[in-house]
Amino acid sequence: MSPASAGLLGRMSYRMMSRCLMLLVVSNWALKTVEAQEHRTVGVGSSVLLTALPIHYKTVIKHIQWEYINSTTTANIVDYYGTGTEPIIAKRYEDRVIFYSSNGSLLLKNVQETDNGTYRATINLNKIKARQTTLLVLEPLSKAQLQINSTVVGSPVELSCKVLVGKVQAIEWKKDGKPLPRNTCYQLSENFSLLYIPEAQKSDCGSFSCNASNDISWQETAANLTMEGIVPSSLKHALKMSTVALAISTILAAGSGLGFIILCCQSEKKKITGELWRWLVIFTHGLVCVSAILMFTAAVFWMWEEGLSTALVLYLIFLTWVIMVTLLLSVVLAICPQHLGMFKKKIMYRVILDTAAPGGVILVVLFAIFLTQNIQHLQRKGCSPLFDSTAAILIAAAISLLILLAPFVWYHRKKKSQEKDQQEGQHVELQELNVDPQAKNQD
Ligand SMILES: *[C@@H]1O[C@H](CO)[C@@H](O)[C@H](O)[C@H]1NC(C)=O
Ligand SMILES: *[C@@H]1O[C@H](CO)[C@@H](O)[C@H](O)[C@H]1NC(C)=O
Ligand SMILES: *[C@@H]1O[C@H](CO)[C@@H](O)[C@H](O)[C@H]1NC(C)=O
Ligand SMILES: *[C@@H]1O[C@H](CO)[C@@H](O)[C@H](O)[C@H]1NC(C)=O
Ligand SMILES: *[C@@H]1O[C@H](CO)[C@@H](O)[C@H](O)[C@H]1NC(C)=O
Ligand SMILES: *[C@@H]1O[C@H](CO)[C@@H](O)[C@H](O)[C@H]1NC(C)=O
Ligand SMILES: *[C@@H]1O[C@H](CO)[C@@H](O)[C@H](O)[C@H]1NC(C)=O
Repeated sequence: MSPASAGLLGRMSYRMMSRCLMLLVVSNWALKTVEAQEHRTVGVGSSVLLTALPIHYKTVIKHIQWEYINSTTTANIVDYYGTGTEPIIAKRYEDRVIFYSSNGSLLLKNVQETDNGTYRATINLNKIKARQTTLLVLEPLSKAQLQINSTVVGSPVELSCKVLVGKVQAIEWKKDGKPLPRNTCYQLSENFSLLYIPEAQKSDCGSFSCNASNDISWQETAANLTMEGIVPSSLKHALKMSTVALAISTILAAGSGLGFIILCCQSEKKKITGELWRWLVIFTHGLVCVSAILMFTAAVFWMWEEGLSTALVLYLIFLTWVIMVTLLLSVVLAICPQHLGMFKKKIMYRVILDTAAPGGVILVVLFAIFLTQNIQHLQRKGCSPLFDSTAAILIAAAISLLILLAPFVWYHRKKKSQEKDQQEGQHVELQELNVDPQAKNQD
């Protein structure tokens, strides 16, 4: 190796070494500045302690300056010139900061959103060693609200998670306390504030919750998604009406069956006749009329939702006939029974009058069963609570039973009082007989 080439090598290695040194210095400086920079997020109203010296870094503070910097302004907060001097605090910050001269820390009290920005501490005029804290002041989130825009089975449903106050940074959804199931077709909007269910089913029923959060606070709220199998309330009314009509008709049918058996077994003498029979017929026909009217209304509601059909129209016509005949019969019997004979003259009229009530009961029972089955089937597609028909059935049955029994009770009482009257009458006659002779004597 020639000395010339050796000199060249030495120069090259010197260059490389100096470059390496430069790199080391730069990277070290970068490390220091990174260490001296801090990002903090705090809530409005809280207090923040800003530290001037990096951790484990000790130096004698001869001068320290705290500054506030944002995109538009730079402002002094504190100037401090070593022990024995008072820190000079800017007017704007006088009652809001506490400066600790021992370690140069600054306590910023009751921070507001306008305090967003960078706080820089320069120690002993050394800008490189200055420590910076970038402060983000956030409003704590207000209570979250979860809204559901539809509860109809098969329709698109949108759940929206809203927070009125504060900046939301993340939203997390849960169903029944667990993260959203992956295999479902739930879709989230870009910022996660909306949850779409393209075609909601019974399986989507449950408790949905959203947890809106930012760095300083979070708010969780939940709502129950209850899908309705039947939406129009008219169908719910139809269900109630046909249930009640069914109860009345069943009592009527059972009552007539029982009555028929009793009639057959009883002797000719004890047969129900006269006034009792009249009121029984009136109430029976009245009840048939009421249940037919209920059924008519329910059928109209059903037709309104499910469309017109020939069978339904025919059914409505038959029901109208039942309503008219039973109403006519009970009114005529109640007000002017003597006119009934007029209707009973022709055999045709007799048939019409006699078949109206049993025919009505059959019509009502059949269609009520059909309607309640169908509506309940619709209802089961959802998860809203089913209509509990027990109470309605019991009440309707009890009332119709009472109505049917009323004539018997009334008849029984009347008979009793008649007997009493008769007895009293005989008594009086006897007394009069006793008295008479005396009166004659006195004469
Ligand atoms: C910068 O700070 C000043 C003083 O606090 C404030 O009035 C101003 O709105 C701030 N500017 C921005 C962009 O935050
Ligand atoms: C600075 O001193 C104050 C008061 O003595 C103390 O509360 C604070 O924690 C100190 N800060 C650091 C970074 O040690
Ligand atoms: C402070 O920063 C937050 C988040 O970027 C922002 O919402 C808020 O408006 C800022 N406040 C001011 C006064 O600039
Ligand atoms: C609910 O929101 C979805 C999605 O935005 C929409 O398609 C649907 O029509 C809404 N339903 C109601 C009843 O507003
Ligand atoms: C999220 O996006 C929706 C529109 O997709 C918007 O209406 C809503 O305000 C946004 N919410 C937030 C917290 O940004
Ligand atoms: C809500 O989200 C925040 C932030 O992710 C989390 O700290 C918190 O525990 C969550 N709350 C619940 C009830 O899951
Ligand atoms: C949801 O339903 C459950 C059980 O029915 C009930 O305990 C809970 O309080 C409901 N939640 C809301 C937000 O209504």
